[in-house]
Amino acid sequence: MRITVTVNGERYTRDVEPRLLLVHFLRDELGLTGTHWGCDTSNCGVCAVWLDGAPVKSCTVLAVMADGHEVRTVEGLADGAELDPVQQGFVACHGLQCGFCTPGMMMTARRLLDQDPDPSEKAIREAISGQLCRCTGYENIVRSIRWAAEHGGTARPAETGAGEAEEAHGREEVRT
Ligand code: FES
Ligand code: FES
Repeated sequence: MRITVTVNGERYTRDVEPRLLLVHFLRDELGLTGTHWGCDTSNCGVCAVWLDGAPVKSCTVLAVMADGHEVRTVEGLADGAELDPVQQGFVACHGLQCGFCTPGMMMTARRLLDQDPDPSEKAIREAISGQLCRCTGYENIVRSIRWAAEHGGTARPAETGAGEAEEAHGREEVRT
């Protein structure tokens, strides 16, 4: 099937197998390996991305279901060389060790802060409860997200919607 998906503001057209998962479309077709692939059973959350602004586990979504929709991945968090406050928070508070869970954690954190710019520790822990980290014990992840909240953690204008992102970038790639 031929699908066109907007990812981080760029349109991509590809011919894909109907059974291809979104996580593999992003990683293998588009080379966006920031989205990780872990359990493949909807348990670990490392594959979290946004689909039309809402977080999804991309191992539970077929690529064809994203046809005509907008996806945002961890590669779309930074504004050029300027890291998103969530990314800065993970650096400042040592919110990662091996980094395998980090992209999914960041996408969930960004979404949380867009909805609640000043989340309590309880709200942060609830937000990331669908994601597993085998390294950190979660303490520094929670601190990282609080750091982002305290350092301008609200959404940038460019993150407000698919249409705006597309206009801002205006790029399209077609490969079959
Ligand atoms: Fe998707 Fe684990 S790889 S939830
Ligand atoms: Fe290693 Fe979270 S930093 S799994």
